[in-house]
Amino acid sequence: MVIETERLLLRPFLESDAADVFEYLAEPMVNCFACMKLDSLEEARAEMKKRAEETEYYFAVMLKDTGKVIGEINAFPEHAEPHDQNEDSPLDTFSPCWMLNQAYHGKGYAYEAVHAFFDYLFREKDARRIYTYTEDYNISCQYLCEKLGMRREGLFMEFVSFINNPDGTPRYENTYQYAILKREWN
Ligand SMILES: CC(C)(COP(=O)(O)OP(=O)(O)OC[C@H]1O[C@@H](n2cnc3c(N)ncnc32)[C@H](O)[C@@H]1OP(=O)(O)O)[C@@H](O)C(=O)NCCC(=O)NCCS
Repeated sequence: MVIETERLLLRPFLESDAADVFEYLAEPMVNCFACMKLDSLEEARAEMKKRAEETEYYFAVMLKDTGKVIGEINAFPEHAEPHDQNEDSPLDTFSPCWMLNQAYHGKGYAYEAVHAFFDYLFREKDARRIYTYTEDYNISCQYLCEKLGMRREGLFMEFVSFINNPDGTPRYENTYQYAILKREWN
């Protein structure tokens, strides 16, 4: 699957994307992506091999004019909350993750990519609800969510920990939840 916007292609990853991805995942910008950190180009190549198998829900964000991969976006289908034990209940809920190489921030690429991805999920993947979490200090992400028309649904205090403090105790983060429904998107 390929999603095209004015300046971008959202397309499945290729093994040849390793160097571009290593540029932004050698030092993930936010703690929630700490577990995605890549320590070498070799690791990046192995990661690209895995990603290349996923063609519906995990996309590289590529500049159309240069072919450079400047970021990524993904979301996988989930059951609605509370978790429904019935396996037949629809997988109509998505929680996307997105990030861009810092060198390409502030140019509207994130909005362009995420807007197109939401459109794809709502129109082609039967999404009913899209929600995302963001740290209370992640102002850029909050602006992006609001520009996309997402509702700020709540602030969860000390909700999650991705890294430890210097003394080894978990560093808990305060997390906003944003969401948008299909009928709101339409
Ligand atoms: C979140 C992220 C993708 C946003 O990228 P971006 O380049 O700022 O996005 P855009 O250029 O499309 O900007 C979207 C809107 O937010 C506004 N904005 C972004 N950062 C802002 C800031 N710090 N202050 C005020 N407005 C800001 C932009 O001006 C733009 O609005 P406008 O077009 O009306 O001016 C980027 O910061 C990123 O990759 N961060 C690291 C990963 C991350 O945090 N992912 C989300 C985890 S929860």
